[in-house]
Amino acid sequence: MSATAPSLPPSPADVRARKGGAPLVCLTAYTTPQARLVDPHCDVVLVGDSVGMVLHGLPSTIGVTMEMMILHGQAVARGIATSTMVIDLPFGSYEAGPEQAFASAARLMAETGAAAVKLEGGVTMAATIRFLVERSVPVMAHVGLTPQAVHVLGGYKVQGRADDAARVMADARAVADAGAFAVVLEKIPDSLAQAITRAVAIPTIGIGASARCDGQILVTDDLLGQFTAFRPKFVKRYADLGVAADQAVAAYAAEVRSGAFPGPEHVFADVAPNAKLKP
Ligand code: KIV
Repeated sequence: MSATAPSLPPSPADVRARKGGAPLVCLTAYTTPQARLVDPHCDVVLVGDSVGMVLHGLPSTIGVTMEMMILHGQAVARGIATSTMVIDLPFGSYEAGPEQAFASAARLMAETGAAAVKLEGGVTMAATIRFLVERSVPVMAHVGLTPQAVHVLGGYKVQGRADDAARVMADARAVADAGAFAVVLEKIPDSLAQAITRAVAIPTIGIGASARCDGQILVTDDLLGQFTAFRPKFVKRYADLGVAADQAVAAYAAEVRSGAFPGPEHVFADVAPNAKLKP
């Protein structure tokens, strides 16, 4: 009897090997239908902690919990067939030290089936990244604007301008040296993103960074026009589903109020006239 190994989606190592090759296409997903939508088009699907703001109405990603990430991760896993699934470590689940990070990462991977975790931070997270990678946890890093640090950064500002470029470059080099298989570069100048992409041996995934990064990522709800609370400059809307949804709900409400819905085609006839029922 010949046993064939189950075919797996591309691994984080396959993503790592795409450095300098065809651009990596990455998007977020939080639910099974959304994962089914993006999976056939993507190399990487990220269960981002942006879920807290996009689906749960939180003011930032800081209130996102492990339980939220696990629930959404499990839903996304049911919709993934061909892309690499990465999941965010939420705020407070990894910063205390490598052991805490390993416990959280192992739980997220075991309970959701994600192939890798993403965490925010550069030089200060390098030791943690090394610790995780040495223990079979592939890590995608995230430097530049790190939204979980919004209160330290003083808002969602562009990072790495002028003299600050050296800091972001050092962060990117540190996570690459520590063994991350890819690094997200968020909201930094185009020129700095290009310099980092040349400097590090792992793929750079840009969001508000540069077309010259090794790949791009966006929040799916942003590109579909479904998340409209605010719109960063780096978001390109490829559809206006939020407007279409609003029009559809308004039309439904108007038809219910006018009695036009439900129509005869939406209701059921009895099998035979029921004489006992009088109007
Ligand atoms: O949480 C998120 O969605 C992210 C981005 C990089 C898209 O981290």
